[in-house]
Amino acid sequence: MPKLAGKFALVTGGNSGIGLAAAQLFAAEGAQVAITGRDLNTLASAAEGVGGGAVAIPGDITAAPDRDRLFDTIKERFGALDVVFANAGMSGMTPLGSTVEKQFEDLVRINFTSVFFTVQGALPLLRDGASIVLTGSITSVIGAPSNAAYAGSKAAVRAMARVFAAELSARKIRVNVVTPGFTRTPLWERSRTPQQVAATSARLPQVVPLGRWSEADEIARAVLFLACDDSSYIQGAEIVVDGGLTGLPGGTPAFRG
Ligand SMILES: NC(=O)c1ccc[n+]([C@@H]2O[C@H](COP(=O)([O-])OP(=O)(O)OC[C@H]3O[C@@H](n4cnc5c(N)ncnc54)[C@H](OP(=O)(O)O)[C@@H]3O)[C@@H](O)[C@H]2O)c1
Repeated sequence: MPKLAGKFALVTGGNSGIGLAAAQLFAAEGAQVAITGRDLNTLASAAEGVGGGAVAIPGDITAAPDRDRLFDTIKERFGALDVVFANAGMSGMTPLGSTVEKQFEDLVRINFTSVFFTVQGALPLLRDGASIVLTGSITSVIGAPSNAAYAGSKAAVRAMARVFAAELSARKIRVNVVTPGFTRTPLWERSRTPQQVAATSARLPQVVPLGRWSEADEIARAVLFLACDDSSYIQGAEIVVDGGLTGLPGGTPAFRG
């Protein structure tokens, strides 16, 4: 029996990277999927790639009128939601000493504020027993230089998930976080120079016990687990999918001796 048969799912940032991989898995497991993002070209091709009659709804998730349109369309097309993967986000540098306020606030707005309002907007459509999955990041705990806004916004997502879970438990709605490590997606090219991406690739065998990037699909499989009934007693939790980076420095070459 497919894990999401008869379910309706929304994936924000479903036209790229982790969101796209999750949307594909959801559809393969029988869900009807709506994806959203701003880029009309990738949105159309992603919807085709997701299959299962995926619905592509363009919009900026930080803009209230776009969110209203998103949920109006889902109401019209699906009538309800069983899974929300509030995943849209972006990376960016905010070094202490040279960051202007707008840069900082833009990151907080997409990575934190819009996640709150995505869940709030979905609430009237959510069936009892639904599952909400949020995307965190290991950046929230590793102290990566120049990442104050990104790290802080992802730590806020982790904290907010606990609050959501508390508020929604009475309706048996589960809220959990998937926390990716270094994952090979377009996010890197969007936010770093090719030289910076190459430097990160070169560093990974030194800092990740499993010694490599994650693929988007490896994160998406944890998302699917939290989205479906396989995780029916997991509430307010976090699954870290990082190849051991945050949990076991002893597994890196520096410590293996
Ligand atoms: N890749 C990693 O190493 C990594 C590690 C930890 C956490 N994460 C998190 O994983 C999530 C997905 O990132 P990814 O790696 O899959 O990156 P990605 O391939 O760049 O995907 C980001 C997605 O978010 C959407 N998005 C960004 N801003 C948006 C906006 N204002 N309105 C609507 N959609 C917006 C993008 O679509 P449009 O551009 O079309 O709007 C895109 O679909 C993010 O929350 C990211 O912080 C990634």
